[in-house]
Amino acid sequence: MRKILTLLTCCLFALTSFAQNDPNLGIIPAPKSVMLKAGQFQFTKQSGILFETAEDYKIASLFHDFLKNSYFLDIPVAKAFIKAPNGVIRFSSSGYTGKNAEGYSLSIGPKQINVSGKGAGLFYAMQSLMQILPVVREGAPKIPCAEINDEPRYKYRGMHLDVGRHMMPLPFIKKYIDVLAQYKLNTFHWHLTEDQGWRIEIKKYLKLTQVGGFRAQTLIGHYHDRMPQAFDNTPYGGFYTQDEVKQIVAYATSKYITVIPEIEMPGHSVAALAAYPELACGDNPGPFKTAENWGVKEDVYCAGKESTFNFLQDVLTEILPLFPSTYIHIGGDECPKTRWKECKYCQKRIADNNLKNEEELQSYFIHRMEKFLNSKGRQIIGWDEILQGGLAPNATVMSWTGVNGGIAAAKQNHDAIMTPGNFVYFDHLQGKSDQEPLAIGGYTPMQEVYSYDPTPSTLTPEQQKHIIGVQANVWTEYIATPQHVEYMIFPRMYALSEIAWTSLENKNYMNFAEQRVPKHLAQLDKTNTVYRVPTAIGAKDTVIAAAEYPVRLKPSVTGAKIYYTINGYTPRETDKTYSADFNIKIPAGEQCTLKTIVITPSGKRSAVTTTTLVNEPSAGAALNISPGNKGLRYFYLPGDFTSVAQLDTLQAAEKGTAPSVSPAKFRGKARTFGTVFTGYINIEKDGVYSFSTTSDDGSQLWIDNKLVVQNDGKHFNFETNGVANLLKGYHKIELRYFQAGGSNEFKAYVTAPGKAKQEITESMLFN
Ligand code: ACM
Ligand code: ZN
Repeated sequence: MRKILTLLTCCLFALTSFAQNDPNLGIIPAPKSVMLKAGQFQFTKQSGILFETAEDYKIASLFHDFLKNSYFLDIPVAKAFIKAPNGVIRFSSSGYTGKNAEGYSLSIGPKQINVSGKGAGLFYAMQSLMQILPVVREGAPKIPCAEINDEPRYKYRGMHLDVGRHMMPLPFIKKYIDVLAQYKLNTFHWHLTEDQGWRIEIKKYLKLTQVGGFRAQTLIGHYHDRMPQAFDNTPYGGFYTQDEVKQIVAYATSKYITVIPEIEMPGHSVAALAAYPELACGDNPGPFKTAENWGVKEDVYCAGKESTFNFLQDVLTEILPLFPSTYIHIGGDECPKTRWKECKYCQKRIADNNLKNEEELQSYFIHRMEKFLNSKGRQIIGWDEILQGGLAPNATVMSWTGVNGGIAAAKQNHDAIMTPGNFVYFDHLQGKSDQEPLAIGGYTPMQEVYSYDPTPSTLTPEQQKHIIGVQANVWTEYIATPQHVEYMIFPRMYALSEIAWTSLENKNYMNFAEQRVPKHLAQLDKTNTVYRVPTAIGAKDTVIAAAEYPVRLKPSVTGAKIYYTINGYTPRETDKTYSADFNIKIPAGEQCTLKTIVITPSGKRSAVTTTTLVNEPSAGAALNISPGNKGLRYFYLPGDFTSVAQLDTLQAAEKGTAPSVSPAKFRGKARTFGTVFTGYINIEKDGVYSFSTTSDDGSQLWIDNKLVVQNDGKHFNFETNGVANLLKGYHKIELRYFQAGGSNEFKAYVTAPGKAKQEITESMLFN
């Protein structure tokens, strides 16, 4: 009895000391199984590293170098058994008995660590072991004893990088590969050709890089922002030589990463057309210039001319020896059919092949390229538009416009890789646009990425097998530097790694976001890598009705400090540090604003969060009316606005009634406009109601002439809320919205006491 007790105490001690009660021991992605045991293994100068085969030696040496660089521990590496007085770390390919080629086991005992796996598996075992080691890198590190068995959920785990819009230097491509490998991702999708730049040397067509690798200037600001657009008047360009590409592929291979090149066709090919205009539609097409702004271009490869196919086959013939990958990505997305419709060569191709339309011509194009690549022993991947007009027989679909492309492919017994924009587009914003670098749009924070299950539940188990994996995409229209790429991928890539590797039953967002991510970010904080500092754990951008509010926060990066204010000012280092929990009391009839910021040891700062606390004790009385008409009255004002305050209903170009606030009504009218909706909302019972709007651009919601939701200003789609204490009955409601160009979104929501949030619909609205 006594003995067991000692063991238990010891075990608890070990847990708190080293694992901070983290059942996953700090490992991202979370392993399949982790069993904690009593005791610890201590790394010292007297430890020894052992290996079996030459490949095991390679991985053992990487671990040796890691210990040396991080902890100044230079431990001998030996094939023969060395009697290490303070324990051995054995890297072995024969020790792994599992079936998965990427699986591994890691057995940590007090005197010996067995790191077991074959090739990639052993490499991943080493990554896990490195992650278990403490972030504070000093002295002789100790780790808790444990048994870990692990294997991936998906065989395809990818990250994409667009180097067409912005060229990324070679050392950064290597760094990118390093971080993929660290997080057990096994595919680098290298998007090498675009309208704005052709980035890979093709010796038979040198103008592709000499002309197509460069553009005269680049758009400043957002593509949607203003007309006419401003340019930087600065030439931009560059490309990778075939020797450099070989270097990258070899480097990636050494990290168990497959590089899949993407050569876009038939669309996104203006840079190639700038070099070889004869590949476009019609007689004497062009001239074209390498694109200088973003968006989808109508000039594409001609699908009627044989010379297009000869050219692309020549290009691929040079590409194939550089990339041993079975998969070659041939694009296929966003190809307008405008030019094909007017081109005699394309129309002849359609007639000669009994094709129904230009969609089938696109399908002909992709089929033909697939046939060529299949004849060389390769398989194609295409974006989900390759479904249009019929899928090529052996194609794998990369589903980006949503999940439906992947679902359709799987139902046709084709493999699919899921990369839906809403969940894994890392060019999207991670916070409210006014606190983030310029981005293409969208809002895809880490939690959204984490919430994604790549395997659609609507598929049968047989069809689900065709979902071979998941990938995040990094499009670089608005990402011009490696530092900005880093900001966009960290920490979201951690979430990607976990949805790609970890089985559903082992996923746990709380453990991920609150225990493991802060540790990994603390590690990054010690390097020169840029990352987005998440806002404090527990801090919310919201409006809450409360007389007393408990403040319970944790730093999002281990070792970082949280500063806060309750006076409305932006918090900074001169403000109070959050060091213990406290409660804020809000006097009756008053508001209080809690603002927080996280500042990391290296000085990186999070966005500022704002929690508005409202103590509204007396409820707003209902109006003594019974309005007869359903819906709201609306006022429509075309024009350029930057605030809803500028909307004067007396100046409305159009008025009428509308069921609710959808701006769809005004689509296809002016590019920029404002609208005001007025009427009454029926409140079913007394209580504190929460209202919110999501809008791109600004909006406000007023109840009884009082501003409840302040979501004004030019910004991307974002939700803001507010609260109102209301008595049962009709209350005046006014909703204001303006659209300054770009995507056109406006929705209003209400959360009644004790009910779920719902959109404010016609059934609640009157005028
Ligand atoms: C894409 O995002 N156009 C594939
Ligand atoms: Zn044509």
